[in-house]
Amino acid sequence: MSKGNKIPAFGNLQGLKVVYAAVEIAAPESAQLMAEWGADVTWIENTFNGDSMRDTAYVKELERRNQRSLSLNIFKEEGKEVFLKLIETADIFIESSKGPVYEKRGLTDELLWEHNKSLVIVHVSGYGQYGVQERINRAAYDQTAQAFSGYLCQNGAEEQPMIAAPYTGDYMSALMVASSSLAALYKAQKTGVGESIDVAMYEVMLRMGAYYMMDYLNAGITYPRAGARQQNLCGIGVYKCKDGFLSLCLYGAPQNKAILEKIGLGYLWGTDEYPEGTTALWLNSPKADLIQQKIEEYLLTKSVDEVEEDFSNCKIAANKMLTFEELPKHPHFLAREAFIEWETIEGKKVKGPNIFPKFKNNPGQIWRPMPTLGMDTEDILSDLGYSSERIQELSDKGIIKKAESK
Ligand code: COA
Repeated sequence: MSKGNKIPAFGNLQGLKVVYAAVEIAAPESAQLMAEWGADVTWIENTFNGDSMRDTAYVKELERRNQRSLSLNIFKEEGKEVFLKLIETADIFIESSKGPVYEKRGLTDELLWEHNKSLVIVHVSGYGQYGVQERINRAAYDQTAQAFSGYLCQNGAEEQPMIAAPYTGDYMSALMVASSSLAALYKAQKTGVGESIDVAMYEVMLRMGAYYMMDYLNAGITYPRAGARQQNLCGIGVYKCKDGFLSLCLYGAPQNKAILEKIGLGYLWGTDEYPEGTTALWLNSPKADLIQQKIEEYLLTKSVDEVEEDFSNCKIAANKMLTFEELPKHPHFLAREAFIEWETIEGKKVKGPNIFPKFKNNPGQIWRPMPTLGMDTEDILSDLGYSSERIQELSDKGIIKKAESK
């Protein structure tokens, strides 16, 4: 692994240049995935305290590995010049802010396209670049996006809505940023004309959380919050066994037949109420309460490992709920090297998830740890053609911040 500035050639995104200016998870994580798949990722951090992600103890090491840190005041006149030069050779630029900040500060899409007409620009915000004025300028995080999108109102117990953790709104947004920017790039590379993408986090969650909303929008149907169990079907949810929790997803005719037999209700199969071939045991079906009760009673008499194996043999999707302690020791995790170790910039070992997904022909790679704040500022500016005198001048004026240790 290298602490240097030169990215080795690897991955499906080899040669792709991504620049981003954002903090925390939603936008940076999209660039992170691309960095793990071979892209050259430049992380623009402010010159005062850098990305607030730096305040975390360990997760920053995962979510900023393979990146280069450029500490730049992007909105000062001379900072804008550096930024515009930087994006001349970029393929994708991603920013996250409280609404249309870039436009307000003169860094419009049109100006960026004057410097690079095929640039794919992604604006990430809580509520979008346009809409109700007093809303679009608001700060937003995962929890507010979940609340505003119809995602929060679906999760948790009846008396207490609960956030889908950890940071589901951020990570889903990151996936949407990565996929939409690569979609736009596909077109931009064919036409030479760039794109500007307005990723509003609430809309990501609205789109990803619309499964049950469709029933409401089209038929006025609402369901109680799911809690630990699915709203519509028997045998779907988290169940207690005698020594732990099982996550069960009962679906399909042979699976339903098998479970009814196991819980002593085999006589229901093939009746008018549950004809052969019944794929879904609906919660509003005649014996649903009895079926749920018998599943619960049955599982309480069994160990979770025993049920997982037995149900899996009957093609029923069932899995023991693994804890953090169990994950690193699990033979399947070990066989697929789901966790790996790498070295931080200070030379300390850090353990975390490997690179996913696993590409057969062009695998991802970790080529460097998370850089320190501004560690690559001088190298990046010198690659852009700035002389060391000019770099020093920009540093003295506070436009850029150079690496502290240099
Ligand atoms: N150079 C100069 N100024 C910079 C800068 C840079 N490189 N990077 C940020 N700034 C400015 C911002 O424009 C902002 O100025 P303003 O408050 O006058 O608008 C200020 O520094 C603070 O930056 P910001 O990163 O926006 O921090 P914040 O604490 O005010 O807000 C968020 C953080 C995440 C709430 C906000 O950026 C936001 O809502 N983003 C969109 C949604 C999002 O990504 N949420 C986080 C999901 S993990």
